[in-house]
Parts: sequence; structure tokens; C-alpha cells
Amino acid sequence: MNAPESLPLGPVGQSTDRIDGPLKVTGHATYTVDHDFPGLVHAMPVGAKIAAGRLVSLDVAAARAMPGVIEVFTRENIGTLYRVAKASGVMVDERRPPLSDDEIAYYGQYIALVVAESFEVAMAAAASVTAQYEARAVDVSATSVADDDMQTEAERGDPQAAFDAAEITVDETYVTPTETHNPIELHASVAVYEDGRFTLYETSQAVVNHKAALVQMLGVAAEDVRVVTRYLGSGFGGKLWPWPHSVLAAAAARALGRPVKLEVTRAMMFHNVGHRPRTQQRVRLSADRDGRLTSLRQDYVVQNARRDEYQEDCGEATAYLYSTPNLRVTWGAAKRDVGSPTSMRGPGAVPGLYAIESAMNELARKLEIDPVDLRLRNDTLHNEDEDVPFSSRHLAECLRTGAERFGWRERNPAVGAMQRDGRILGWGMASASWMAQRLGATVAVTAQANGRIRVATASQDIGTGTYTVLAQMVSRVLGVALDRIDVCLGDTALPSGPLSGGSMATGSLVPAASDAARDVANKLIQTATEGDDTPFADADPDSLELVDGQVRRKGQTDGVGFMDILQRARLSQLSGNGRSGSSKADPGADERSTKSFGAHFVEVSWEPAIARLRVERVVTVIDGGQILNPKAGRNQIEGAIIMGLGMALFESADYDPETGAVLNSNLADYIMPVHADAPELDVTFLDHPDYALNELGARGIGEIGLAGLAAAITDAVHHATGVRVRELPVTVEALLEAPLPDGQ
Ligand code: MOS
Repeated sequence: MNAPESLPLGPVGQSTDRIDGPLKVTGHATYTVDHDFPGLVHAMPVGAKIAAGRLVSLDVAAARAMPGVIEVFTRENIGTLYRVAKASGVMVDERRPPLSDDEIAYYGQYIALVVAESFEVAMAAAASVTAQYEARAVDVSATSVADDDMQTEAERGDPQAAFDAAEITVDETYVTPTETHNPIELHASVAVYEDGRFTLYETSQAVVNHKAALVQMLGVAAEDVRVVTRYLGSGFGGKLWPWPHSVLAAAAARALGRPVKLEVTRAMMFHNVGHRPRTQQRVRLSADRDGRLTSLRQDYVVQNARRDEYQEDCGEATAYLYSTPNLRVTWGAAKRDVGSPTSMRGPGAVPGLYAIESAMNELARKLEIDPVDLRLRNDTLHNEDEDVPFSSRHLAECLRTGAERFGWRERNPAVGAMQRDGRILGWGMASASWMAQRLGATVAVTAQANGRIRVATASQDIGTGTYTVLAQMVSRVLGVALDRIDVCLGDTALPSGPLSGGSMATGSLVPAASDAARDVANKLIQTATEGDDTPFADADPDSLELVDGQVRRKGQTDGVGFMDILQRARLSQLSGNGRSGSSKADPGADERSTKSFGAHFVEVSWEPAIARLRVERVVTVIDGGQILNPKAGRNQIEGAIIMGLGMALFESADYDPETGAVLNSNLADYIMPVHADAPELDVTFLDHPDYALNELGARGIGEIGLAGLAAAITDAVHHATGVRVRELPVTVEALLEAPLPDGQ
């Protein structure tokens, strides 16, 4: 799409330090658990020790008798907590309110809540609670679903006939394990109940939705709940929707009339607040001798909770990524004795593209076609699933640029054929894609007589740089320097703003922030023409403009600063408002497809004698539209690559088949990459603004860096070792199958 007639980008597109950086590094940023109030008490949930069955009895006598314990809440005394209506559109993944019956559906499900004067007493008292259960046999497997329970997600042509007729085919099954979000900041709630009103300090990626959910669960009026998340110690999707601890903290605060702080334990992070579910995906590809896909099928099974309906949409990118006349994607949920899954960074497309891109690499080997070439031969500028063109698609340029930067043409495809410094090298690559949409947003921009500009929306900054990009957007329109702009976020008392998820927040905020800034500029101009104490008395507002924070006559260089305008008019402030809707309602929305694209190139090194595998370097090229803050943007992609490295090589939450508990529910046993694992990173953003979603041409970049990376790594592992790992993560045990090369 072409650029709309508009202002120059100004500070947009410039690498900009985070405006909230100094607050964070000096410890002045207020995270949820930093909130403290007079009379505040501490709550700790008690988790079930079975994963399936019924709670028969609870013994809380020892807890109640402990000095410092204020109350122990159970189903008997917590009061009524309500469900969130599906019809309301308000999101929550675990729908059953906590403590609402005696059924246990997953290990660690809350069965009681202890409240005490101190955190330590609350912990000790929670540990002293005992329970009797009627347990059922646990099932945490997730391998298959009856054919009748599989649903069709996308379909075109006749993939079966094309597959049967093809000379070259791939038919493999890929498995991704349960992965757990492990932000450094634990989930927490600090609930204050005063005069019938709740103020809830939450770890939330979506305060507006959180409020709407808590209003329903607590059974109160919308104006009686305010949700605040000023800063978030990351969320990765785990903090998008409310989890049971939040309503428990609020209910306890209401019952006791004292502020309640509840911070879950790291072990609870593995059981009670969602995870990326295990997936098993069968992928079938067929191609002609020239490498053109004649069919593509993906049939996937996702592990799910017994009571909930989360879909890990592994088919998210499948139906549009490559051109093929014949395609089918089907899926089914394997309901098991585990907690509800939820979105984890790049939900759906990330495990989905691991499978699809792995199969593409296997197909390239069979065809003896370079894997970059194979993708180029199947590239398309048309979304064949929706039968509409892409608004902007530069996958081919991502592939070519990445190959060039990586030095891909030096590749010798024979297994084990490349060496450096006595180590075997493996090279692998994959494509990436992620959706792009705009959500509704409202933003207020206020010019103040103290010379500062205030930008306000309820949206939150989850650590990605939202404070900073909002200041950049407003600075561009008003010409006021970033250090005179204050951004207020993360509070439902502010104008309603979008969730921070799906890589949608930045692109969603552009129109509303720009319009709000233009609105206040127009009001400043109008004000400058009114009253006695103004150099522009009776001027036609159309003859004036606002440049560099000053109102001036068009074509002239000197003007009057907005602070002066406001003071002369005896105004404390002047606000402008901007509002925009969902991109789905845009004119022409159904005539184009808006997605982001990318490519990863990976080098691993392999030392067979000691079974040591390392990711040495990653080259990534992203086609994400205009990048508003390349410094923060690069940080997003680099973080996603490290997360993808964890997905490929380390991460797996393992359920005990006997108890249904996660065996490695701590940061010692759940392995994640550390600094010593970090490869050399080379991130390039292509310069193709896409004006389908907003005037800045921005799409979004939080998640795409993770998509495809695991497939590039496992293909590099195959190139180095000859071992094709189709179940993540890659383990040393799997690589011990690798043949030793000659002379070792
Ligand atoms: Mo992302 S999983 O939408 O926070």
C-alpha cells in the first residue's frame, strides 16, 4: 500500500532509548508487588495434591491456630464467585471460578486460601493444610484424538489425490512439548477494597479485559472496579487473561476489609496460570520434481484441559504461507488432566511453523533443492486461503537478504561436511510469519500550561517499549521533544486501550494517538485566535499551524509556544482525543490480507566426541512494516530468537504420569537459555511500510522472531549430525545416535 499524504516521520523510526528506562534501572518503576498499603495482609493459595477426582475433606485447624493467621478461605466461606459470560466477549481461559465445587481437574488447583499478617506465616499455614481426596486415574498423555473429533480448519482442492499421485512426498509427525511462561515477575494481585470499590493492582497484559472479567466474577458494577498495571516484568501471553488467584485476592480483600497481596509461587507458575500446550502434528507434503508443492496437509492434536476450550491454532499460518492448489488442515483437542493452556508468545503459528518448516526442510533434502530455493519456488503474493492479495509481502526479499548476510551460498549440503576449528558446523534455515491486525483504541493527549504533554490510554507496557513509541508518535505530530512528554498507561481509569498481545498493541495505538495529537493541535490553534492576549487575535485558524510545539502563521518561522498560548488564555490544559476501531471493520478489509514475514538462518556447532551442541549465530530478516523504534524492535526480535533457542534445545514441562504434577516446576529443572547460550545475533528489518493498518505503516513485531526458529535450528542440527529430531527439545540422548565422523 502507498503512503498516505502525511507528516514526515520525525522521531518515528529513530532508535530511541526507553523513556521509562531510568525508572526501571533505578528501581523506581512500581511493579504489582511493589504496592503496599496500611493494614495489608498476605494471601497464599493451597493447591490440590491430585490431578483428577474430588476433594472429600479439608483440615485447616492447624492453619487457623497458627499465630498471625487471619482467615482460611474454602468453598464454605469464600462467598459466591461468578463465571464470565462467553457471550460478553470477555476473555478468560480458566472459566470455572476458584473454590466453586469439589471437583479437581488438574494438579495444584486451588482448594483453599490462607490469609496472614506476613508472607512467611501465610506460606507456613498454607503448607499445614491437609486434604482427603477421592482420586481418579490420571491421564496426561496427548497423542491422538478420535477421527470423528477432528475438525477441518482450512481446505482447498484435493490433497489426498495430489499426494497419492506425487513422486516426491514427506509424511512426518512433529511433537512440541508443554512449555511454560517464565517471566521473572511472578503473577500477582494486590487487591484493595474500600467503600464498596475495588482497586486491583495486577500483573496484566490487558487491564481493560481484566476489569471486565473481575466485574462479572465479583458480581459488582463496572464503576466499582479499577485495574492497574503500571509496569510488567514480562508476560509472554501468560498474563493476557485473568487467572483464579486474582479473584481470590479480591474476594479476600472484600471479606476482610483489608488490602490483600497474593503473589503465586514459581511452582504455581507451572500449574495454575496457563502454558503452551503439547502438540503433535502430522504433516504431509507432496511436490513435483521442480519443487512446486502439489499438496500440503497438517493434522494436529493439542493437549487441552478437561473443562476449558483453548485452541492452540497450529494452522494459523499454514494455509497462506506457500502456494499450493491442494491443502487441508485439521485439528482436535485431547482433553486431559492438566490446567488450562493459554497463549504463549506466537501461539499457534510458533509450534505450527516448527512442523511445517521442518517438513519443508525435509522435502528440500529429498528433492535435492536448496531449502531457500524451495521456498522461493513456492512463494506467492496472494493469500490462497482467503483468495485475496497480501497488503505487503516480502518473504522472498527476507530469504534473499538473509542468505546474503549469512553467507548461505558457501553451504555444502552434505551432512557433516562443514567444519571450523575442529567443530562440525550445521546450517539450517526457515521462513517466519505472523498475523497483523489492529484493535480498537482510544488515546487522550493533553497540552498542559506547565509546558508538558500528557499522553494517556489504559493499554499497558508489558516491557516491549509502549511508553516510548507512544511518546514518539505524539512527538511526531506536535513537534514537542520526548523529554517533555509524559505517557500514562496501565490503568482502567484512563481512556480504554487495547490489550498487549498478538503483536498488535503498537499498530493499534498509531491512529488513535496521532488523531489525539492532531485534535489537541487544532484546539491549540483555535485557542490562539481567541481572547485579547494573543498575537493571533482574529486570525483565520486555517492560516495557522502547529510546528515544533509552537503555533505560527503558515510559512513563517517564529511562533508562540503552546505553554504560552495556554497561560495567556488562563487555561490549565487542553485535551485532544483520538479513537480508532478494529482493522476488521476497515473499508476494504476483506479485500486484502495483512501479515508479517521473516526468515531465519542458523549455524550450530557440534562436537561429537563430547556431544556438545551450540547455536553459534543466527541471522534474521523481518518484514514487519515500518519499525517505529528500531532499538526496541531489535530487542524484541533478539529476545524472541533466544526464546526460540530455548524452545528448540531446552524447554519442556514434564507431567508426572502418576500424579499429574509438573516434575520440573522450578527454574533449576525447567531449562531456559542463559547468557552463555546466546549466539551472535544479526537482525535486519526490511524497509517496506505497510499502510493497511495505520498511517505510519507499522504492523507489529513482538512474536514473529520466534516463528520458524526451532525448525531452522533442528535442520542445522540435522546438517551437522545426521540426526533428524522431530520431537522438541533436541536432547543430548537423541544426538548420541549421531555417527562419529571419520577420524573421531
Ligand atoms: Mo502474546 S502470546 O499475544 O502475549
